[in-house]
Amino acid sequence: MTHPYPPEPFRIKVVESIRLISPAERESALKEAGYNLFSMKAEDMFIDLLTDSGTGAMSQEQWAAIMRGDESYAGARSFHRLKTAVEDVFGFKHFAPTHQGRAAENILAACLVKPGQWVPSNMHFDTTDANIRARGGRPANLVIDEAHDPENRHPFKGNMDIAKLKAFIAKYGREQIPLGMITVTNNAGGGQPVSMENLKAVADLYHQNGIPFFIDAARYAENCYFIKQREPGYEQKSVKEIAREMFALADGMTMSAKKDAIVNIGGLICMNDDTLFQNVQNELILREGFPTYGGLAGRDLDAMAVGLYEGLDEDYLSYRIGQTAYLAKQLNDAGIPTIQPTGGHGVYVNAGAIFPHIPNYEFPAQALAIELYREGGIRGVEIGSVMFACLDPEDNTWHYPKLELLRLAIPRRTYTQSHLDYVAESLARIKSRASQIRGYKYTYAPELLRHFTARFEPL
Ligand code: F0G
Repeated sequence: MTHPYPPEPFRIKVVESIRLISPAERESALKEAGYNLFSMKAEDMFIDLLTDSGTGAMSQEQWAAIMRGDESYAGARSFHRLKTAVEDVFGFKHFAPTHQGRAAENILAACLVKPGQWVPSNMHFDTTDANIRARGGRPANLVIDEAHDPENRHPFKGNMDIAKLKAFIAKYGREQIPLGMITVTNNAGGGQPVSMENLKAVADLYHQNGIPFFIDAARYAENCYFIKQREPGYEQKSVKEIAREMFALADGMTMSAKKDAIVNIGGLICMNDDTLFQNVQNELILREGFPTYGGLAGRDLDAMAVGLYEGLDEDYLSYRIGQTAYLAKQLNDAGIPTIQPTGGHGVYVNAGAIFPHIPNYEFPAQALAIELYREGGIRGVEIGSVMFACLDPEDNTWHYPKLELLRLAIPRRTYTQSHLDYVAESLARIKSRASQIRGYKYTYAPELLRHFTARFEPL
């Protein structure tokens, strides 16, 4: 019998205790937080799948690198070690560290985006979207239609719709599009990869029109691993070679290193253009810090330099992607629908399908998030009407998202397979009593970024 998942390619040297508090304690913790999992204490979580960002476990090599951190203000050894790694992995002419991904996005938008201009992508992550809007720009999401169908098994559901992009560029032109982007993997669409073929077509279109092409590279290694697994012609290439091929297509990138560089804090901005880099450095000094540390400590730069290689390790990636697929399979076998095919960094549970009796204005995905905490002390994140429903100012009606999802993001190298079995069992128990579960209503809801601070009460 083949093993149902690749065993963890590491053993455990340091542990952090976690504790499942009693059902009564969980109930009162929920009530006190106004049934909002963002408002709860991490110590009251048994298994925390809120995000895979900055929540991974660093290796002994990374902790050893931390001790070598050089805290010199300018030109630190740590910077040069990171520079060597970044040049080797990504191959751009210029780079600067930032404190996390959104800082890189902020700087890029400050340097390139003018009010009224458009920035297309497959799907912008919400911080990228907000950073473009903060400069008066307008983000546009041009992902293929298959991305919106949770059952569709397209192998590269993160792909850009090339026809839509062509029409978009024809409509707005170079003057109104200061840069074009693509997010790998597509987090907002379920952690779905983009194919190399699609990346090439996107790069060609941008370049034929003189538009600089930037990649949001937060989960690039997972994307490259999927290319190796699924795209003809890439089976024999190393993930690192695939990454070099991918970044050679672009003019630059922004990256949250809290994902595939397996660090707890950090980001990167890279580009080839000399003048743009001068402007980026000036912005960086204003907002982040001197260009050789960019808002991080020297030790953080060293941890990132090591983590970049660990994130590309193919034994690690096989375990990582296998772990996510394993959790999804356990859920699907129990009759719990998830976005297909399973993405890289998390499992996106279709809460709307589990609770067909809860209307979207009573928040089925929020109800599932709350129920999963109640059942097993597990925290996921609602990606549904709490996060995305918006009141249209023109006709004063509510617009709801197409899907009601609960994302279970898997921190890197942090939880074992038995933790994931426990998650699947908890969800299966909820499924068996699904018809008894009711929705929620707001007792407080701010106008912007509601999901972080809203309060609820059960119906
Ligand atoms: N781009 C993508 C695709 C992301 O998923 C994130 C963060 C960012 C940019 C911003 O990076 O957090 O370092 O500033 N995603 C996290 C998540 C928060 O939970 O998916 P950051």
